Amino acid sequence: MSIDVDKHMISARTETEPVLHMEGLSLDFITDHGWTRVVDGIDLSIPAGSIVGVVGESGSGKTVTSLAAMGLLPAATSKVTGSIRVAGRELVGLTDRELADVRGTEMSMTFQEPRRSLDPAFSVGSQIAEVLRRHDGV
Ligand SMILES: Nc1ncnc2c1ncn2[C@@H]1O[C@H](COP(=O)(O)OP(=O)(O)OP(=O)(O)O)[C@@H](O)[C@H]1O
Ligand SMILES: [Mg+2]
Repeated sequence: MSIDVDKHMISARTETEPVLHMEGLSLDFITDHGWTRVVDGIDLSIPAGSIVGVVGESGSGKTVTSLAAMGLLPAATSKVTGSIRVAGRELVGLTDRELADVRGTEMSMTFQEPRRSLDPAFSVGSQIAEVLRRHDGV
């Protein structure tokens, strides 16, 4: 799994801000036992031009942290608190539409399990082309 941020888009905005900066990031999910905290106060800063690997045992929160950075956690069943900034822009609190503008232009994600990430009701080609249709009007 990786999070890729387009360096050219970033440099147009600022040279000094980290590409990705998380501060006090906590994630809670609604479960059968009520709200449960699964990520508790992550701090992470990735400077432009660097490659960072996140390592942890299974279930430690790598995927949900990445999904939070992409704004892909379901709002109805999860809560994101703290700060996630991409090139200085705060993502926590953005609307779905605002997040959709950032995804696929300034940041993107290669999902861990393609079979769970692709919808069998649509062709693979149409799902790959979706980002071009959304942003470039193809
Ligand atoms: N929708 C959800 N509702 C409740 N708990 C969740 C939800 N999604 C993830 N979790 C919990 O959050 C924790 C972190 O899961 P996550 O998938 O991020 O781990 P991971 O580090 O990516 O593991 P792996 O190395 O196996 O991929 C786990 O305890 C998981 O059960
Ligand atoms: Mg994972």
